[in-house]
Amino acid sequence: MSVQAPVIENAKIAAEHVNFYYGAKQALRDITLRFAPNTTTALIGPSGCGKSTFLRCLNRMNDLIDGTRLEGRVTLDGRDIYGDEVDPVELRKEVGMVFQKANPFPMSIFDNVAYGPKIHGVRNPKELANIVEQSLTKAALWEEVKDKLRDSGLSLSGGQQQRLCIARTIAVQPKIILMDEPCSALDPNATLRIEKLMEELKRDFTIIIVTHNMEQAKRASEYTAFFLLGDMVEYNTTQNIFLSPQDERTEAYITGRFG
Ligand SMILES: Nc1ncnc2c1ncn2[C@@H]1O[C@H](COP(=O)(O)OP(=O)(O)O)[C@@H](O)[C@H]1O
Ligand SMILES: [Mg+2]
Repeated sequence: MSVQAPVIENAKIAAEHVNFYYGAKQALRDITLRFAPNTTTALIGPSGCGKSTFLRCLNRMNDLIDGTRLEGRVTLDGRDIYGDEVDPVELRKEVGMVFQKANPFPMSIFDNVAYGPKIHGVRNPKELANIVEQSLTKAALWEEVKDKLRDSGLSLSGGQQQRLCIARTIAVQPKIILMDEPCSALDPNATLRIEKLMEELKRDFTIIIVTHNMEQAKRASEYTAFFLLGDMVEYNTTQNIFLSPQDERTEAYITGRFG
């Protein structure tokens, strides 16, 4: 029985026929993927298949790498993010990113979260304090740090540091949160904590997460896309991908036969 992939009509962010090159080397081939608002999509596939490259196409982080080239279109709320009038710095405020290794700035917990809003022009101390509290609350970290906001962000545990990075990302009110293997350096408890948090963040944001952990994809996402060697092989609801994959390569990957 063949299973149809869902059609996303109301995409918050979408890639249309994206090809991506590092110099002469093509890393992504004709990727079309649309992400509905307030959903979580998991990107899975073996190392080197282009998952991180694809994420970086969505907030123009690849612009920072010399010799790269993108063909096709990426739209945020229907607007081409590679358009001439788009400021990549402003764009990265709207499309935030959380990395594999938590990377708090070497400054206080408070300043880590206040940093982005300050750069974007928030000066009023009371307003900053509010943003910091709200962001840390949304990132499920407030209770643990509210009495030590002046301590260094680096003094926190790995899982707390990752939640601090999530608070820092949401402090500038993004529309999209990209997460590149955010739990791969965390223990199982800290991982579950982040997954629970993602469930809450989905109410306000659209989340795209790269994960190597099939159980995490199943627990934390509604949609899954399987990448292989620069191609997007299969996209569907997470349930369909894991229960009735249509492509034998998807099936081989999710059953652990390679990757
Ligand atoms: N900065 C770079 N310069 C050149 N090639 C790169 C760079 N980053 C990634 N690649 C290549 O692009 C391909 C996809 O890599 P990547 O997106 O990191 O895959 P994944 O995140 O799925 O492991 C790989 O062949 C990798 O070697
Ligand atoms: Mg990667």
